[in-house]
Amino acid sequence: MALSLALVRGRTVVSRLAPITLVLSSSSSSSRSRHASTSSSSSLPKKVVVVGAGLMGTGIAQVAATAGYQVSLLDVKQEFVDKGLKRIEASLQRVAKKKGQAPEEVSRTLALITPSTALESVAGAELVVEAVVENLAVKRELFSRLDHLAAPSTIFASNTSSLRIGDISAAIRPDRFGGLHFFNPVPVMPLVEVIRTPATSDATFAALRAFGTAVGKTPVSCGDTPGFIVNRLLVPYMAEAIRMLERGDATADDIDTAMKLGAGYPMGPFTLLDYVGLDTTKFILDGWHTDFPNEPLFKPSPMLDKLVAQGKLGLKSGEGFYKYDAQGKRL
Ligand code: CAA
Repeated sequence: MALSLALVRGRTVVSRLAPITLVLSSSSSSSRSRHASTSSSSSLPKKVVVVGAGLMGTGIAQVAATAGYQVSLLDVKQEFVDKGLKRIEASLQRVAKKKGQAPEEVSRTLALITPSTALESVAGAELVVEAVVENLAVKRELFSRLDHLAAPSTIFASNTSSLRIGDISAAIRPDRFGGLHFFNPVPVMPLVEVIRTPATSDATFAALRAFGTAVGKTPVSCGDTPGFIVNRLLVPYMAEAIRMLERGDATADDIDTAMKLGAGYPMGPFTLLDYVGLDTTKFILDGWHTDFPNEPLFKPSPMLDKLVAQGKLGLKSGEGFYKYDAQGKRL
């Protein structure tokens, strides 16, 4: 696929950063930054590679760097990585403003993130977190290439939101492979789902949980089932909201207001659909419908299909169920 072919182009990253000690044991329950120290003879330089500089990948890179990890942010094209770094900078500035941090704090965190377009940058990584397009073939091909380039001890994790980890990891170091599923916006949402397949080793699972804790998230564990916990509940809920709109039971605005004020959700389902991306939701729903054709909760939605076909993908395209200005403010 284009992804992996393009990923091997470009340059190899040479770290300019002081090595830091990475603690990925089950005892690592406090913030990663408390473990960061200059390298000692007993510790090797360690780093985390995040593959995919989209919304999720940049969020993961940001929280890892904020926690003190040395991060390589990898994507197929320099422009994607550059755009991702700009997004991280804006988000860090938002956090700094909120916390009253000095501007140097932003540059210090940014300096921990090394952009890359070369798959070879996984060399020396202790953990690789993949957040590329939600396509099984692309993920499998990417990981099988990484498998040859990363050290045998490197742990692989996917941030897939709807695929089974076991389908990605089969024959690719399955014992050192698990799921780390973060939530959008990653810098804000305090949860990470940690997924183990029957082949994931106890040490890998403990390391993934510890990483989640170290980057400031609360880990929950879940078996390798489609959608894990959150999306398995959230996606059918959002699809049901669309069905309600299709039936004409209520307007999108009233459904959103009802779920915010009547159920205490921070966003109503249509605001959330626009936020997550209608294409993403359609992709998840369609995939599950293919796998479970008799499950009514996963039935495709004609309204969702139509909006996606029209390029109305939500916040990112300026229109979904609602319209947005260039700053992402609802019109
Ligand atoms: N970076 C840094 N900070 C951010 C941020 C970002 N990208 N986005 C929001 N924030 C901060 C804001 O600075 C603000 O901080 P203060 O309150 O301290 O000022 C805070 O978060 C709240 O933001 P806003 O005031 O802009 O807006 P809000 O109060 O409506 O909160 C929200 C925004 C956090 C997104 C909230 O509406 C929310 O929790 N929504 C639900 C999100 C959700 O359900 N996410 C999961 C989606 S499903 C998924 O991700 C899984 C998948 O695989 C598809």
